[in-house]
Amino acid sequence: MTINVKTKNPTHRAVQEHYGKYAREAGSCCANSACCQEHQNTLYPSEVIEGIPDDVASFSAGSGDPVSPAKLKPGETALDLGSGGGLDCFIAARQVGGLGRVIGVDMTPEMLERSRVKATELNLNNVEFREGLLEALPVEANSIDVIISNCVINLSPDKPEVFKEMFRSLKPGGRIAVSDPVSNQPLPSYTAPKREDWCGCTAGALSRQVYASELEKAGFEDIHIEVDTETIGRMMDSGQTQAPESILREQLLDDLKHINNLDRLLVVPHLITAIKPNPM
Ligand SMILES: C[S@@+](CC[C@H](N)C(=O)[O-])C[C@H]1O[C@@H](n2cnc3c(N)ncnc32)[C@H](O)[C@@H]1O
Repeated sequence: MTINVKTKNPTHRAVQEHYGKYAREAGSCCANSACCQEHQNTLYPSEVIEGIPDDVASFSAGSGDPVSPAKLKPGETALDLGSGGGLDCFIAARQVGGLGRVIGVDMTPEMLERSRVKATELNLNNVEFREGLLEALPVEANSIDVIISNCVINLSPDKPEVFKEMFRSLKPGGRIAVSDPVSNQPLPSYTAPKREDWCGCTAGALSRQVYASELEKAGFEDIHIEVDTETIGRMMDSGQTQAPESILREQLLDDLKHINNLDRLLVVPHLITAIKPNPM
């Protein structure tokens, strides 16, 4: 399926250009990015990416690990929104096994090409990558057990449509596990958000309240939106994110757990889980 370019708005085009360049330059890190793993990938516990070749593991523009909270089971069908270089699909493919399958969707041709080449190199035949938009997912209704996504939904210019599409795609009882930068307060309304801030996964972030209410409007239940303190802790331990020296690691992580009480505006990686109710 090819994207009807007419359905892409200027934000899609800017994001596609940004991540096309990222793929062409083989992951050299983007400016102002809240989601970039230039060297060692500390987004995941080491056992999750164990055995994945370094060039695949380090090509990651995620904000956390959505695969572990997805608790995939053998035989399940998983859908990865904005699959990029394919890392989460490859991790998921090992977990759903030969009887399961994983579909990655992305709109950027360079990302699709890279993920398809790597799937072949890794000899994974239960993974496929489809070209498409999050706002018009190229999958049948009620066909997916689990949706994962890593640092992508914030980039969409039409998040309510993305949530509707996620709900449509899932089987009744299906679940989502998403990593995404989320803010603790509404972001100031920019008249013209800076393009690099949007593409770098900060300016498009939803607040926790809006995230929850839009998921609820789409029909999701059992919605949990929590700061991903595990990933942030791993990033601090590896020196990729630094706590101000006067703040102890545990104090900072504890503050982040109570992020709603902070006066300061923060956009940090969150884990979002929810289910599509099963009326049976
Ligand atoms: C920040 S990167 C994350 C890639 C991958 N999930 C990872 O963890 O490395 C965002 C990816 O989402 C894709 N993307 C962003 N918005 C999209 C949209 N509305 N529809 C389809 N793909 C989108 C981009 O092309 C890019 O590959």
